[in-house]
Order: sequence, then structure tokens, then C-alpha cells
Amino acid sequence: MELEETHVTPWEAEAFVDYDKLVKIFGAKPLTDKEVSMLAEVAGETHSMVRRRVFYSHRDFDIFLETFKTGKRCALYTGRGPSGHTHLGHILPWIFTKWLQDRLGLELFFQMTDDEKYWHGDSGSLEEFNSLAYENILDLAALGLDPAKTHVIIDSEDIGFLYPIAIRIAKKITYSTQKATFGFTDSTNIGMIFYPVLQISVAFLPTELYQEHVMVLIPAGIDQDPYWRIARDVAPSLNYPKPTQIHNKLLPGLGIGGKMSSSKPETAIYTTDPPEIAMQKIMKSYTGGQPTAELQRKYGGNPDACPVYKMYEMLFEDNDKKLLERYHACKTGALLCGECKKELAERVARFLRDHQEKRRRAVDQVEKYLIRYKFDVPKIRR
Ligand code: TYM
Repeated sequence: MELEETHVTPWEAEAFVDYDKLVKIFGAKPLTDKEVSMLAEVAGETHSMVRRRVFYSHRDFDIFLETFKTGKRCALYTGRGPSGHTHLGHILPWIFTKWLQDRLGLELFFQMTDDEKYWHGDSGSLEEFNSLAYENILDLAALGLDPAKTHVIIDSEDIGFLYPIAIRIAKKITYSTQKATFGFTDSTNIGMIFYPVLQISVAFLPTELYQEHVMVLIPAGIDQDPYWRIARDVAPSLNYPKPTQIHNKLLPGLGIGGKMSSSKPETAIYTTDPPEIAMQKIMKSYTGGQPTAELQRKYGGNPDACPVYKMYEMLFEDNDKKLLERYHACKTGALLCGECKKELAERVARFLRDHQEKRRRAVDQVEKYLIRYKFDVPKIRR
């Protein structure tokens, strides 16, 4: 795999990339109608993110669904590097994960990597990243993830759950693999070099906790894929089932190019943004439209490359027919960027008001999500 060719690593990714090419380079498979109908069969309905291929590629998602159908134990795994407040890009995979949890009744293991963010950044104390992990749990609660079935592992505090697994994984991974997969160099700190082992460990944790092979599905952005390639390589020799994945495309930021990212706060909408601020960010968004209303009416816009349209497509328009109408209205110049932004701004503000109220109500619910109060650390001595 040529890292330079993709510009997609866990720490650096564009949003308007050639996703088909990426799938080929990463060696995953495009999500086809076959998997989409298999999912509809077990879930009883489809999800717009799957229908529209926001979740667009996978590894063994079909095998995961087959296994689920046999009644064998399955689980979900996803996570967050708590580098700041949560933005709309982060919650995109969590919204789908919640839907899977509800429809399939699955337990979710959720990793908060305060260690990764401390090792990766130039600034910020471990205490700050740790408290952001707790802060980010409020978003999981506000999205409605079931506390009885959602188990959060905060790396700096819950390492006992992962360390026996990590020891075994670490022995299988060479520095040369780490360099080739993640682009590490001789000046990368050794925390970062070890870190991937911890992200992989959670994929095997359900098997340790239940002392039986648990099939794990990881719904997450395509940027996280490098970890899973290694996880799948090492799994058989450690007698763990290979974790399966379903990958989402990245929600663009509101500027030109680039994913919505904490490193560009002016083009990201945070779940904690006051609704008026979020509305202002949207009204200032790049759209790629024509310079004047007159030209826009004449030549139309380019929804395929517009972050505002992508917000509708990926998060804020459930109705397929209405989405298509918007697409055509934009292309033909019937809908001007200003109107399109204003409507989005209102929808986002409505979402934020509701989400923020739920976050406030979740403040005393956080402990219910923590794995340490629900499971014993798996024993190394058998
Ligand atoms: P982090 O915090 O960078 O991202 C959390 C999740 O959000 C996805 N994501 C996005 N999805 C759509 N559009 C975007 N603009 C966007 N930006 C981020 C990421 O793909 C991810 O799914 N190392 C991880 C933390 C982690 C993890 C995991 C993530 C630990 N274990 C298992 C996924 C699955 C990280 O820093 O994620």
C-alpha cells in the first residue's frame, strides 16, 4: 500500500478523495446491494447512510451478518481520540452504530484514546485529554447509546482490560510494519509507535471477556482502516476471530477540501457550539457555487463537491426523494447557495439545541457507560 498515494492515515485525510481507488489500495471491498439487503433482512429496515453508500466499503461484513444470523455472540466496536469537543464528523459513525445496536441488540465496546491524543499532539496535558474523554461520553449518551450495552474503555484508566491482549499483539508486530502502515519515522515518539497495539486490542477484548469467539464489527471512518489491516493479519495466530469492518466516507469541513476536523475549528461544527455560532459557520461555508446569483441561475452549482450538500446527504436529509430534488435544484440553478445554507443552518441549530439538552441531562449518567463498573479485568492466570 502506498501511503503517499492515498493521503489517508488516521491523522491526516481529505474528504473529497477518490473513494473507489482507496478501497482498492486498502484491499477492502465496496459495499454492494447484496450486503445492503442482508443487513435489511436482519435489521428489518435499511439506513440512509447505507443506502447512499456513506458507509461504502467493508471487510467481511457479509460474514459478520451470517454469523449474527446463526445466533453466535457478536459485538460492535468503535471509538474516539478525545482531542477536543466532538464534531459532526465524529458522530456520523456513532449514529449508524447506535442504529445497529438498537436493531441488532448488540453490545458496543467504545474506546477513548486519551493516551493516543497525548502522544500525538504537541500540546495538552494527559489530564486534559482524559477529562475530554468523559466530556465526549456525554455525546454518546445524547445520541441515545444504551448504557447497559455500551462499555467505554478509557485507555489511561482501563489499561488492565487491554494490556494482556496488547502484550501478545505487540510481539507479532515489527517496527518496519508500523513504519510502512502509519508513516512513522525515527523521530516519532515511542508512545505513538506502541499505540496501534492498544487500538487493535479492543477488537479482541470481547473474546477475552466472554471466553468464547466473539465476532466483532467495527463501524468507523475509512481513515481508521490501517489498524484493522494489522488486526486481521495477527488475529489467526493469536486465536482470535478476524474483526470485520464497515467504513464510512468522511464528512467534509465547511472550507475548501479537507475532512471536518478538530484541527480546523472554523470549518467544523461541534456538538457544543452555540446554535447561533454554528449557523454563522454554515452561512460562511464554501459551496463551490457561482460568484453571483445571476450566474448561479444560469450555470447551476456542483453538489458533488459542495460541503453544504454533503451535510444534507450524509446527516441532515433522511428523505431520498427530497435529497434528489435538492441535487437537481442545485445543478439547474433553481436553488441558490444562500437559501440552501439557510435551511441547513436551521436544521443544524435544531439538532444542536436538542442534542445539547440531552447532553445536559446525561451529566450524571456517565458512570453507567464505564466498562470498569461492569466487567472484571480478564484474568491472565487460567
Ligand atoms: P477520531 O477521534 O479521530 O474519530 C472518531 C471517529 O470519527 C470518524 N471521523 C469522521 N467520520 C466522518 N467524517 C469525518 N470528518 C470524520 N472525522 C473523524 C473516525 O473515522 C472515527 O470513526 N484513533 C481513533 C480512536 C479509536 C477508534 C477506535 C476509532 C480508538 N478505537 C475504533 C474508530 C474505531 C481516533 O482518533 O478517532
